Amino acid sequence: MPAPESVLLDPDLSPHPSLDADWWRQAVVYQVYPRSFADSDGDGLGDIPGVTSRIGYLAELGIDAIWLSPFYPSALADGGYDVDDYRDVAPELGTLADFDALVEAAHGVGIKIVVDIVPNHTSNRHVWFREALASPPGSPARARYVFRDGTGPDGSLPPSDWTSHFGGAAWTRLHDADGVGEQWYLHLFAPEQPDLNWDNREVHEEFLTTLRFWADRGVDGYRVDVAHALAKDLSEPLRSKPETPGVLPIDGSDPLFDRNEVHEIYAEWRGVFNEYDPPRTAVAEAFSAPERRALYARPTGLGQAFNFDLLKADFDAAQFREVVEFCLAQAATVGSSSTWVLSNHDVVRHATRYGLPAGTDLDDWLMTDGRQVALDAEQGLRRARAAALFMLALPGSAYLYQGEELGLHEVADLPADVLQDPIWLRTLHTKKGRDGSRVPLPWTGEGEGYGFGSANPWLPQPAAWSHDAVDRQAGVEGSTLELYRAALRTRRALQTGETLEWVETGREDVVHLVRPGGWHCVTNFGSEPYALPAGEVRVASAPVASGLLPGESSAWLTDWPQG
Ligand code: BGC
Repeated sequence: MPAPESVLLDPDLSPHPSLDADWWRQAVVYQVYPRSFADSDGDGLGDIPGVTSRIGYLAELGIDAIWLSPFYPSALADGGYDVDDYRDVAPELGTLADFDALVEAAHGVGIKIVVDIVPNHTSNRHVWFREALASPPGSPARARYVFRDGTGPDGSLPPSDWTSHFGGAAWTRLHDADGVGEQWYLHLFAPEQPDLNWDNREVHEEFLTTLRFWADRGVDGYRVDVAHALAKDLSEPLRSKPETPGVLPIDGSDPLFDRNEVHEIYAEWRGVFNEYDPPRTAVAEAFSAPERRALYARPTGLGQAFNFDLLKADFDAAQFREVVEFCLAQAATVGSSSTWVLSNHDVVRHATRYGLPAGTDLDDWLMTDGRQVALDAEQGLRRARAAALFMLALPGSAYLYQGEELGLHEVADLPADVLQDPIWLRTLHTKKGRDGSRVPLPWTGEGEGYGFGSANPWLPQPAAWSHDAVDRQAGVEGSTLELYRAALRTRRALQTGETLEWVETGREDVVHLVRPGGWHCVTNFGSEPYALPAGEVRVASAPVASGLLPGESSAWLTDWPQG
């Protein structure tokens, strides 16, 4: 079969997708958790100049964009998702000039920058919240947040039964100087993260200003935190949430989440995105009934929405295929492209998930420092590599989480005294939370913090990471880093249309998909080897000998003769 011309181009010569306004549709976006990426000044915290110093690494990896988790001033009550000032850089992470230098360096090598916008809540140190605390009930300063009188005879009971995602009530009561209780305020996350009132026009204006502020500095897109929760039904009496936790109605009738009105906010944001050339992009972190996810991804809204279906699936052929079919169909209903994610800063890393028996309660497992059930680390990594190749062969955008390209595992045995996640505190030490996925990256097999840049990174790194470090994997055939590099290079060269077809394999545990132009991905979820079809193996997650794909591995093939 002759290949389309673009497919035969040398990858280095093919047009970079970021030159195009649709660059995001099939981009590989790499999530940087700034405090854990690279520390340029030796204070134990990663920072913005640290990211800039590693732009060469990211370019060589072959990504299209960086998504920066929050780098704004913050007391870190929730790892930076408690923002003090949306239009500045945390002093310990750098300055606005450092940020500009990062954008320039990234753009210089064709990498886009996406920033995290956190519109559901500010931090309790934000100037608005300080004003609200200093102002009386009913004042305009309080109207930017959700303040209510308590219930019960002396107002000592919360205004409703709403609970925080991090455990405990979603309301905290204020007390005056004499310790007398007064109003309560809403926080769907930590008490240090008061929810904004999106019925207030001032809140809208503030975020439009913030979006323009970053777009004017050259930012290419936004990741919108908790995008489903901004519009709330705050009419009295406040309604209880539905009985079944985690299941949201498909008619938008939940009092707090995924309400129809939330899309009016994003239609207005779209107006701002389209003021720029190319238009700025956005991706929603939205939890909704699965059928409603695409509403966030409309071209008149944010344009794209995360789905975490692949991340939640077991390493299983039927589950993976079902997720792909569903998500592609959903995105297509609104003309968007699907997103794919295996790991991020909120979940146990996928190399670890796949090395534990399906159904393991990860919170419980972490509480035993990973001892409750034995982790098969090798199997986990083998499967993680296979899943990564599968994901990277799909049409749509792949979101990678820093360190997955090194095959890093979750750090399950962080000692209690270093844990910083509010989940640890708010669940009264019954859940460890997410710190184990946020441990600073190893860059070198030796040296301070394995090349992170400081002797005492803010979370301790395991000794085993010496072997996983970038310099131990770079140039080493078969390493996970080289697998990702080869995959991203090949993907860029082969990617054409946004469709796929399934090819019958005769095995329930083997999935074969083909993209336009004859780019095949075969994933063997089982343990028995599988005889690959004819074609040239371009990338494989495990050695392919005599045309046999080993168990728990993936291979990419092209079916035309290569010149
Ligand atoms: C972020 C979390 C954060 C939460 C509250 C999430 O979706 O990814 O890390 O704790 O929003 O802002």
